Order: sequence, then structure tokens, then C-alpha cells
Amino acid sequence: MKKIQIGKTDLRVRSLGLGTNKIGGYNLFPNLDDETGKKVVQTAIDHDVEMIDTAYMYGLGHSEELIGEVLQHNDRDKVVLASKAAQQVAEDGTVTLNNTPEFLTKSVDEALKRLQTDYLDIFYIHFPDQETPKAEAVGALQRLREAGKLRAIGVSNFSLAQVKEANADGYVDLVENQYNLLQPDATNELVPYLNEKNISFVPYEPFAAALLTGRYSLENLPHFEEGDHRLKIELYEPDQLKKNVAKVDQLKPIAARYDATVAQLVLAWYLKNPKIGPVIPGARTPEQLLSNVKAYDVQLSDADYEAVAKIFA
Ligand SMILES: NC(=O)c1ccc[n+]([C@@H]2O[C@H](COP(=O)([O-])OP(=O)(O)OC[C@H]3O[C@@H](n4cnc5c(N)ncnc54)[C@H](OP(=O)(O)O)[C@@H]3O)[C@@H](O)[C@H]2O)c1
Repeated sequence: MKKIQIGKTDLRVRSLGLGTNKIGGYNLFPNLDDETGKKVVQTAIDHDVEMIDTAYMYGLGHSEELIGEVLQHNDRDKVVLASKAAQQVAEDGTVTLNNTPEFLTKSVDEALKRLQTDYLDIFYIHFPDQETPKAEAVGALQRLREAGKLRAIGVSNFSLAQVKEANADGYVDLVENQYNLLQPDATNELVPYLNEKNISFVPYEPFAAALLTGRYSLENLPHFEEGDHRLKIELYEPDQLKKNVAKVDQLKPIAARYDATVAQLVLAWYLKNPKIGPVIPGARTPEQLLSNVKAYDVQLSDADYEAVAKIFA
């Protein structure tokens, strides 16, 4: 199995990972179950899904705690563990972004405790703050790398200008920003810069938060429960939603040719795209994860790769 190199590091990872905002992320999604969440993580490890992407913000540390519990029963080296921080949450729930070296250093130490490990493979600054010079923030992470607490440095939700500033000393190995077939803006300017600088691009929300799984149709539009953050996403505004579902519907005959689901076809398309690094689809259940891993079996032809691109052009 071909592995993807992370930035300029010696870290190499299989291309399908796991996003975990639905594992312990009770502040973002309703009705999450801890035991199911831990089963998803264990199933991922059992099926050689290496990259596990979490963050302090997913349950204010709870996602990291659940993953930490599972890691205790597994070989730590089998997992490429990525976490993120930047949000300082006050007792009243107010969130302030903080990229100061002190806050990031404390955040890494606290993440290590919750994850019950002594190193992170990847640590991302989750969101940029307005005040801290970016190279200073990344410089603090470089010192943590030199101290052996992390192996690769990432930034997330940074604009191209902010990435350039953050990478002034060449320390940035990955950028994790939103990208999927319905929201491809990152590929305009950001991704070409990253490719040129050998910085890995990790797209988040590869299924556009479930729209690209093909489980909806014009007759069966999604209805989310109150508290689900997807209610606030532009893609799901009524007019947009119908147009988006109509595009995704066009994937169904292509997926059928491979005896695959639309979700597997979409993942296979990302895997074939040389500009994109590891993909971290979220999974709520072990069944979703197991189905997503089967995307490795879909050997997409060049013609169908182009046909998919054309639908979303
Ligand atoms: N850096 C950042 O700021 C940032 C922001 C967002 C996300 N992320 C990361 O990116 C990861 C991926 O994003 P995401 O989880 O929000 O969205 P996503 O990967 O686009 O969609 C995940 C959702 O798709 C549905 N799904 C997944 N596999 C499926 C399958 N086989 N069949 C049917 N439905 C399936 C599930 O929806 P249901 O839950 O409705 O079943 C699942 O929760 C996150 O988990 C997180 O680690 C990072």
C-alpha cells in the first residue's frame, strides 16, 4: 500500500484516515454515544486506518479522552495521531482564539495527557488569532518538535497569506482546510502553493458533512436535529441544497459501474487526485467507517475521474 509523505518529514501515512468530531464532540452534534465512538476508533485501528484526526474543540477534550482510552489497548505506533487547539474557552462558554506560544505549549501538554501518550504525530493550530505573529506561533511548535512532543506541524483554517506568514521559516508540514467536490475553493490558490512548497493538504469535510455520501435525493432531503451544526451551513440552505443534491445524484450511475456507493466513489476520487493529501472522512458508526475503507478497492478510470470533476466544475 502506497503511503503519503507528510510535508518534508519522515512521517508516512495511508491515505484514508478518520475524522473524529462525532467521537465525543457533544458540543457540536447531538446524541453521540461514547461507547460507539470508541468502537469506531478501535475499528479504524483494526483496519489499518492510521491517521486519526481530533481536536480539543471536539467535546472540549472529550474526543481526545475517548481516543486516549482506546490507545491504551493498542500499539501506539500503529496510529498517526493528529490534534489541534487554539480555542480558549471561558467558564461561561465564551471562546477566544489564542495562538500565543504559552497557550499552544500548554494546549499540547494537556492534549498529551488526555490522549495518554507522550507524543503527537501532528499538531495543528486550529484557527488563526488576530494578534500573534504567525511565525512566532509556529516557532513555539518547532521547539515542541525539538523536545520530541510532536513530529509534524500544521495549521488549519489559515488563508493563503496566513499560511505564507506561518511558513516563513519553512516549519509548516500540513494545512488542514475545508475542501470537497462541492466546496473546491482551496484548490484555486492555496493548494498550488502547498504543492510547490511540499506542504501536505488535508481536506476537511470531504463529504461536505454528509451531502456527498449520496444518501439524499430530491425526494429525500436531509433533516437535521436541533443542535446539529450543519443547520447553519450554506450548502444546506434550501435553494443550494436542491442544486447540490442534483449534482450528487449524477454520481450514482458512475458509482454503480464500480459496484460502489457514492461515498466510496467520492473518496476514490480524492485518492486519485495527486494534489490532495490524506483524507479524513468523519464516521459516526463502525459501519460507516468500514464502508469508507472500501474506497481503496475502487480503481477509478481516468475517464470517470474526469467525468466526476466535470459534474462539479
Ligand atoms: N480543522 C477544522 O476546522 C475542521 C472542521 C471540520 C471538520 N474537521 C475534521 O474533518 C473531519 C471530517 O469532517 P466531518 O466529519 O465534519 O464531515 P464529513 O467527513 O464531510 O462527513 C462525515 C459525515 O458523513 C456521514 N457519513 C460518513 N460515512 C458515511 C457512510 N459510509 N455512509 C453514509 N454516511 C456517512 C456521517 O453523517 P451522520 O453523522 O449524519 O451519520 C458523518 O458524520 C472531522 O471529523 C474532523 O476531524 C476539521
